[in-house]
Amino acid sequence: MKKILIVGAGGQIGSELTSHLRKIYGDSNVVATDMRDCRELGEAGPFEVLNALDATAMASIVARYHIDTIFNLVALLSAVGERNPQMAWSVNMGALNNSLEVARQHHCALFTPSSIGAFGPSSPKDGTPQDTIMQPTTIYGICKYTGEMLGNYYHHKYGVDTRSVRFPGIISNVTLPGGGTTDYAVEIYYEAVRSGRFTCPIPSDVYMDMIYMPDALRACVELMETDPAKLVHRNSFNLASMSFTPEIICAEIKKRMPGFKMDYDVDPVKKAIAESWPNSLDDTCAREEWGWKPEWDLSRMTDDMLEHIRLKFGVA
Ligand code: SER
Repeated sequence: MKKILIVGAGGQIGSELTSHLRKIYGDSNVVATDMRDCRELGEAGPFEVLNALDATAMASIVARYHIDTIFNLVALLSAVGERNPQMAWSVNMGALNNSLEVARQHHCALFTPSSIGAFGPSSPKDGTPQDTIMQPTTIYGICKYTGEMLGNYYHHKYGVDTRSVRFPGIISNVTLPGGGTTDYAVEIYYEAVRSGRFTCPIPSDVYMDMIYMPDALRACVELMETDPAKLVHRNSFNLASMSFTPEIICAEIKKRMPGFKMDYDVDPVKKAIAESWPNSLDDTCAREEWGWKPEWDLSRMTDDMLEHIRLKFGVA
């Protein structure tokens, strides 16, 4: 990776991936783009307004900056996707299609995230294997699964260097996620600091895989920097880090804030989605093929999240 384009840089992953990659590869070598004018992304390096559904505009930025690697991070997440499935399909697949075509025409490598959402209720729940039954029941998951197949197709048919991970829910303290089923695990920390209480939309005992942003960013770089000869899989690697229920994360916060209170107002759409996803993924292939190893667990992450959010809100 020398000259990198980030599509959808204003979102939860993109806003932090942009500065992470700029630190490693140099500010001027990471071009951030988003459909909104995200001025802060233009402070340290190049920023362009780009609608990912406009393939011509994407290709022209790739040519102008001599891009060799594209990160396509555009996606409507799972819960919001269920409110408008047609739009989720056209945005998620449109951005991916354009990224694949531009990568093919301009000889770029392409990273595009898949998700735990690519699995469905018929996938094995615990230790979900890398290669297994995948019958997602959300439009988000259907897009992710189709995207994995398309990524493999472009790799085998055209030799495009497509790579991907199946991200767990990503927890971070910089940009909020929007419209996902795993968002509760971010919101709970903000509400703990702001008001000392949280109403949880997910049932108390539903496990989902989660990952802390620093590990997610490291995974992107490590996978993209791996010698291609080592990769048996490409689209897309199971990634595991931690798996917990609302009850477990609540208990972890209570250890540090004994007065913290959580109650439940279960959202039936999010409940159905969460219950259709795995409890915990088996990431052996990522560990073996490119050396994946998480560094953050729930306890360390909780300390770090609370510290950063307190600083953000000026709470002692
Ligand atoms: N975080 C995503 C969601 O909840 C899953 O990849 O939709």
